[in-house]
Amino acid sequence: MAKKVLGISFGRKMSNCDIMVKQALMKCEEEGCETAFIRADDLNIENCTGCIACTIGTMTGRGRGYCVKHDDFDILDENIMQSDALIIACPTYETSVTGRFKTICDRIGPSHDITFRKAAYDEGKAAGKPESALPDARAFKKRTAALISIGGAMTENWICLTLPMMYEFTFPMAIDVVDAVEYYGAMAHESVVGYPEMMERMTKVGENIVASIKAESEEERTKWRGDEDEGACPMCHTRLLQLSHDAKTVDCVVCGSHGTFEIVDGKLKVSYTEEEKKRSRLYWGGKLEHSTEIKTQAQPSGTIKNLKELKQPYEDFVRPPFPTDENAYGNVKK
Ligand SMILES: Cc1cc2nc3c(=O)[nH]c(=O)nc-3n(C[C@H](O)[C@H](O)[C@H](O)COP(=O)(O)O)c2cc1C
Repeated sequence: MAKKVLGISFGRKMSNCDIMVKQALMKCEEEGCETAFIRADDLNIENCTGCIACTIGTMTGRGRGYCVKHDDFDILDENIMQSDALIIACPTYETSVTGRFKTICDRIGPSHDITFRKAAYDEGKAAGKPESALPDARAFKKRTAALISIGGAMTENWICLTLPMMYEFTFPMAIDVVDAVEYYGAMAHESVVGYPEMMERMTKVGENIVASIKAESEEERTKWRGDEDEGACPMCHTRLLQLSHDAKTVDCVVCGSHGTFEIVDGKLKVSYTEEEKKRSRLYWGGKLEHSTEIKTQAQPSGTIKNLKELKQPYEDFVRPPFPTDENAYGNVKK
């Protein structure tokens, strides 16, 4: 059966993101894959309300990890479940991902976190529950992805948070990112179709995705196929480090792994121990650490006996928004 590659664009209709994803998908089709393309803006997906019913469900074994809301997220979810690989492109808005991208990420994780879903699946299976009462086993299927971030700005730093944030889409399901492209300076081209080097790079994205899904070993499947970068984290290949409070060590913002650094030949060299690499939230170990802290340390309702009384002053503190003048500048109703 042909492997399925799903392309998702968060950009404007027929603008850069759409075209770049489609170019990569065309290569996948040429190599014998079946493809599907989704424009996120065509979907009506509501924000996560933070009810955590998805997580409580998988933690208690009473739920399957689904959201209580049933909107177009279900279409996206089913497409992801059917896919073997993803190619995702997101524009940069205010140095980061778009609001819709973040909305979708919040709906994906923690409901799709494999350490929650797999535990619920295994426990339910052992208890003899039917497959229909368990989390969707396709959530644990090994998948690869390519991430593409795009920004109009001519200065690379203006897109600096987009690619790191895009890992929020892939890490809950442990989807292995094998290629990533940061395209900045998009405003210098009317459309990416007039930028042959970038279009060729997109063909390469398609090639890399096909190579990953056709790989015969795990090493080959997860191999990094993107550009090599001396400053990149060895696990996630992004370059976003956070200094510790004492300024002596660093954390990878995407992975959560803790590293040390030294200056070697004038270059900042960051090192992670093997143990810290396994703590990356891209992998099972990092995710399990977090789901275990939720399972063991989150306090249940009823822990604070006089909670209602303690909250009362805040319940009573009701203040309306400042009055607004409908004729004020920028707020004129015509
Ligand atoms: C609200 C808004 C904020 C933006 N902020 C940035 C930015 O911080 N950095 C940047 O490089 N481009 C920024 N852009 C430009 C877009 O990233 C750029 O137009 C991109 O090509 C959009 O993707 P699309 O062509 O696929 O729609 C912004 C655009 C909008 C609409």
